Amino acid sequence: MKKLTLCAVLAAFALGLCFTGAALANADKGPAEITLESTVDPAKKAKPSLFPHAKHQETLACGDCHHGMGADGKQVAYVDGQEIGKCESCHFKAGKIADKKLSTFKGAAHANCQACHKAEDKKSGEKKLGKCSVCHPKKK
Ligand code: HEC
Ligand code: HEC
Ligand code: HEC
Ligand code: HEC
Repeated sequence: MKKLTLCAVLAAFALGLCFTGAALANADKGPAEITLESTVDPAKKAKPSLFPHAKHQETLACGDCHHGMGADGKQVAYVDGQEIGKCESCHFKAGKIADKKLSTFKGAAHANCQACHKAEDKKSGEKKLGKCSVCHPKKK
């Protein structure tokens, strides 16, 4: 009810602000920079991945990466303000996700991150974002 009143007020100032206003309601955007690393099903040799979270938030929607899971184990689309869990809290070998390609952090991350990066390379015709070292920098 409060939200509706707020939206009505905002709408008086600028049409469409309610839609961006919905994003503002989600105060917790998480860390700006994250180093991702498998902990539940780690590889013998750790391969941490860089992840400029804030940079991705500039161009992508939260729901492009975040989602939930229903009681039936199926994916539930992201809704604004929902609780955001670690990918590994669902994407791990002994979890509910049967698809082997998705049942590890590596699998889920590659299906999300690497797939988009490769698609970007296809669009630009350059081999840049899809390279392993973009996310897994070589140790100095
Ligand atoms: C390109 C993919 C992507 C986008 C877009 C994205 N996030 Fe994230 N976000 C992640 C990943 C990956 C993590 C780290 C999850 C993990 O540690 O397993 C994360 C972590 C978080 C966390 C911390 C969760 C925790 O418990 O550590 C919050 C909060 C969060 N994101 C909110 C948002 C919000 C709000 C948006 C939209 C404004 C957003 N994210 C957009 C990928 C994304
Ligand atoms: C609350 C549980 C849960 C969390 C947290 C979660 N996922 Fe998922 N995810 C699922 C379920 C369930 C599916 C559907 C699996 C299937 O189709 O077999 C799924 C599917 C996927 C898919 C394939 C479908 C698609 O949307 O492309 C990718 C990629 C994916 N998740 C990546 C991630 C990433 C990256 C994170 C962390 C930012 C994450 N997931 C966090 C439960 C979760
Ligand atoms: C839907 C597309 C998309 C998804 C999903 C995505 N990215 Fe990206 N990522 C991009 C684009 C586009 C850029 C280049 C942005 C720029 O340079 O302004 C980028 C840039 C990066 C960079 C920085 C490269 C540089 O310029 O140094 C890293 C690291 C990265 N992404 C890691 C990840 C990780 C890890 C994930 C998954 C958690 C992820 N990305 C998910 C599209 C995506
Ligand atoms: C767009 C970003 C991105 C690209 C490109 C990418 N990865 Fe990953 N990779 C990740 C993320 C995120 C994870 C899960 C977190 C982690 O690093 O453990 C991961 C996990 C892994 C793991 C498992 C690490 C572990 O401890 O379980 C291996 C191995 C791996 N990647 C190899 C590769 C190789 C080889 C390539 C190039 C062919 C590549 N990755 C390209 C983001 C990327």
